[in-house]
Amino acid sequence: MNIAIAGTGYVGLVTAACLADKGHSVTCVDVNAEKIRLLNDGAIPIYEPGLEPLIERNRARLRFATDDKEAYREAEVIMIAVGTPPLPDGSVRLNDVWEVLRRIALTAERDCLVAIKSTVPVGTGDEAARFLAEHARHRVRFDVVSNPEFLSQGTAVRDTLQAPRIVLGVDSDRAERAMKELYAPFALPYVVTDRKSAEMIKYAANVFLALKISYINEIANVCELTGADIEAVAEGIGMDPRIGRRFLRAGVGYGGSCLPKDANALYALAASYGYSLKTVWAAIDVNEKQKWKLIDKARSYIGDFRNQTVAVLGAAFKPGTDDVRESPALANIEWLIAEGANVRVWDPAALGHVARRFGDAVVCCQTIEDAIRNADVCLIFTEWPAVLQFDLGRYKALMNTPLVVDGRNCYDVKQAAAAGLIYESIGRPL
Ligand code: UGA
Repeated sequence: MNIAIAGTGYVGLVTAACLADKGHSVTCVDVNAEKIRLLNDGAIPIYEPGLEPLIERNRARLRFATDDKEAYREAEVIMIAVGTPPLPDGSVRLNDVWEVLRRIALTAERDCLVAIKSTVPVGTGDEAARFLAEHARHRVRFDVVSNPEFLSQGTAVRDTLQAPRIVLGVDSDRAERAMKELYAPFALPYVVTDRKSAEMIKYAANVFLALKISYINEIANVCELTGADIEAVAEGIGMDPRIGRRFLRAGVGYGGSCLPKDANALYALAASYGYSLKTVWAAIDVNEKQKWKLIDKARSYIGDFRNQTVAVLGAAFKPGTDDVRESPALANIEWLIAEGANVRVWDPAALGHVARRFGDAVVCCQTIEDAIRNADVCLIFTEWPAVLQFDLGRYKALMNTPLVVDGRNCYDVKQAAAAGLIYESIGRPL
């Protein structure tokens, strides 16, 4: 099929590459000329494992352009995958989605499907359908489909090619048939429903994960008070298939561009109908507090951070990505700088973002050893493989005081003690 995709972020680019890999012809459109130039030069503007070879392999079926008119005119399917960033009140900014819809109304010259992949509030698809029907410049019929995306950064290609389900929110058999034709080569199960339910599935899924993480973080906090071990507790409850083992890793809270944003957006959406989503509010509140756990723990050893050398391992919100949006590490770095600490940051992918954001206020280090050398405390925010595999003896050998406060439970408590570390982690007895 002939497909146009608006937006070359994680969702748009990965979807484009995967659809091209399945034989479709895809034009990616972005208003950002620099991104399009990079893509046409063979570079990838985001860090996403496996994406580059997939794009390279499918160059013949992929086009990258700023000219949306050309792309939308003859497209059978137009997918909207632009960002929906948060507004200060927790709701989402839909300007880019509406701009794309306006452009589609003006330029499409044949009947086409408009599939909304961006995460949008419940009811947006219905509004979009009304808008396109009213404003179409040419005599064309639009079918609007809600087709939310469930890929995670860092594993986005695999998540797309092997998704547990494809959600289709449709209001006609014609739209359902066409979407199934588009996804047929993926051979994945479908959930077919109405548009509003499909939009709600996306929020309900992401916010359930946020609830799960905040719940395990609170249980970890109670483990610390009682002497129970969160690792054993997570394993013990996770083996019950009704609960499941995944997303039960206690830590410094969830970050990224999705879970925090979607929890706030769902809360704001319910509030706009006069409903207070108490469970979601609790998850957001717990996450905000959890983000400061490492500093709270370190403070009991070193008191004041002024003139202390603090090594920060990990800036990305999780391993496998260079994304630092809503990363607990960044808020902590900002606080440490304000307190007068000497901050040394290591991250294998996100150091560029750190340097741009904090400039000379931090020292960016290319190796873990460089970051921890002569440090008074080391704070671990991201469980990168290099951190997990790091020789524990090196902390003792290189640090001024071997105080390691681990926000991702990277090491075995006994081994850390045996290596001579003063080791604090989340929800585990010393
Ligand atoms: C999330 C969802 O997992 C995807 O299904 C969804 O498509 C995506 O949002 C989106 O809406 O676009 P993502 O934000 O890439 O994906 O990352 P996750 O793997 O969900 O991790 C989010 C945060 O939770 C990270 O900071 C991670 O460290 C934290 N986390 C995750 C925990 O603290 N504990 C866990 O057990 C799991």
